[in-house]
Amino acid sequence: MKLGFVGLGKMGYHMVRKLRATGHEVVVYNRSPEKVREISQREGAIPAVSYEEMAAKLGPERVIWLMVPHQAVDGVIVELSEYLDKGDLLVDGGNSNYKYSMRRADALSRKGIHYIDVGVSGGLAAAETGYCMMAGGDKEPFKKIEPAVRDMCVPGGYGHFGPAGAGHYVKMVHNAIEYGMMQAIGEGLDLVKNGPFPETDQVKLTDVWDHGSIISSFLIQMTHQGLKHHPGLSDVDGYVPHSGEGQWALEDAREHGVNMPVIEESFRVRLDSEKVKTYATKAVAVMRDEFGGHGVAKK
Ligand SMILES: NC(=O)c1ccc[n+]([C@@H]2O[C@H](COP(=O)([O-])OP(=O)(O)OC[C@H]3O[C@@H](n4cnc5c(N)ncnc54)[C@H](OP(=O)(O)O)[C@@H]3O)[C@@H](O)[C@H]2O)c1
Repeated sequence: MKLGFVGLGKMGYHMVRKLRATGHEVVVYNRSPEKVREISQREGAIPAVSYEEMAAKLGPERVIWLMVPHQAVDGVIVELSEYLDKGDLLVDGGNSNYKYSMRRADALSRKGIHYIDVGVSGGLAAAETGYCMMAGGDKEPFKKIEPAVRDMCVPGGYGHFGPAGAGHYVKMVHNAIEYGMMQAIGEGLDLVKNGPFPETDQVKLTDVWDHGSIISSFLIQMTHQGLKHHPGLSDVDGYVPHSGEGQWALEDAREHGVNMPVIEESFRVRLDSEKVKTYATKAVAVMRDEFGGHGVAKK
């Protein structure tokens, strides 16, 4: 299919690469023009230097995928809307708050523009192995983008979960679960480090844990990589930032009377990590960097 793509950052750039590798025509725009030039030359994407040019190059019944930080989505929509027509379709693939996605879908539908929210998981490694995607919004426009979604994902790695907001809702919950799982891995390694066998080789341990154990997982693999890149985690500061989803999930849980002690505590540990840094928070910091390229505060 032919689609436009806005945002060629850590995620967007490689998603466009995947779309090109699977035969899709992609018109690309990015705030910083260098990335547009680079991806056009390397991957044969069609460059656009402005939203106006992107809209013109896409023609009628446009499909445009946004892959920008959630704080930037409203601004991009306002600028882009000037060049959109009835029947066009916007996809927000970033980690937006589902309530905002519901509001955006409603506002755009009044102009006859479709809106699909897609939570994307898999991080940087997914550029090679394929992504996992969770969509929300009307079914017909979802069907329109399904060929592109299918080609970016691992087999069986996508689904449509309900009306506007449902995709970002389940992605928010996914990220909240991730908080708890990461914290648990970090705490376990903290105990190994400070328990009766402190000399235990944690690089070897996380590798063994990833072969046949009940906790074998992508997060254990990322921990293993992080321990290899940061021996003993001794150069890591231990501060773990958060990007919103855990907090939104906790707010939503309170609103719906759901108790989430594990996720709540892992979120609190992240907030406190500005001051209270432990071996566990260092492990969480390197996991985040390994799967999402979020960077690690160094000592
Ligand atoms: N990293 C991950 O592991 C991961 C995983 C799943 C989902 N996500 C979500 O995917 C989205 C993109 O993440 P990322 O990791 O690719 O971020 P990133 O590397 O920081 O890239 C952000 C992209 O958005 C553009 N951008 C930023 N502010 C903008 C604005 N005000 N107007 C227009 N464009 C703007 C940037 O343009 P410039 O090049 O000009 O800066 C860049 O292309 C986010 O919502 C994130 O939460 C990330």
